[in-house]
Amino acid sequence: MTQKLDIRWLKVTDSTNNRALEGIPTEKDKTVWAAEFQTAGRGQRGNKWTSAEAQNLMFSILLKPDFIFAKDQFIVSIIVTLGIESYLKKKGVQTKIKWPNDIYSEDRKICGILIEHGISGQMLSSSVCGIGLNINQREFPKDLPNPTSLMLELERNGKKNLPAFSLTDELEELVAEIYTFYDKARDEFLRTGKYDSLYSQYLDRLYRKDEFHRFVETEGNKEVEAKIVGLSDTACIVLEYHDGSRKSFAFKEISYII
Ligand code: BTN
Repeated sequence: MTQKLDIRWLKVTDSTNNRALEGIPTEKDKTVWAAEFQTAGRGQRGNKWTSAEAQNLMFSILLKPDFIFAKDQFIVSIIVTLGIESYLKKKGVQTKIKWPNDIYSEDRKICGILIEHGISGQMLSSSVCGIGLNINQREFPKDLPNPTSLMLELERNGKKNLPAFSLTDELEELVAEIYTFYDKARDEFLRTGKYDSLYSQYLDRLYRKDEFHRFVETEGNKEVEAKIVGLSDTACIVLEYHDGSRKSFAFKEISYII
């Protein structure tokens, strides 16, 4: 049975994450705010998120994941990234997940995600999942590093003269896909008390896994060559160096050289 989606479209807002954060006290699990334009879009590491008006998806899903322990909060990133990756695969674009939660087609960024959690006792009480997915945009400002869109990737795959995608239709498809993974996470946790299958799907789809690449370690601003070999118990990325030694890094402790 297809579920009725609660999606609230706005012409302009500062940030859809702000609308979802305001909704926490009164709105239910699986409520979505989407905007055609954001005046103060927020990205990771305190960056801004900018996007051409009415060309791309900018939206935030409010989840009330009361079955997820706060210590397992990374599973929300896994749910969202696997949902987006699966939606893009159905559209004909093969992507990878750049830890912790960007979506890349080869070395090009198609989607960014900003998740803000609320915690009550040991459990998550809310997760605002803000998603910026480039859909129809063909030209980007020069200062953005390697941006791409669904349209550009399909053109790169040989599909020419495609009409613009309908943002409302695409959002419904994408949100339904994310909810499929959310429901899978709940089922898996209720059955096994863990999320092993979702973790292993996430690792399978990890960008630059098991290949040597260059990174910058924040501490000491040191450039190193290493390969991603997995995630730690606390969802830090684990790198292995040429000498076989390993080290794990939290989000702000490492950056990729792309
Ligand atoms: C990043 O890659 O830096 C994360 C970008 C997240 C952007 C989305 S757009 C919808 C939602 N509202 C925001 O202000 N940010 C997120």
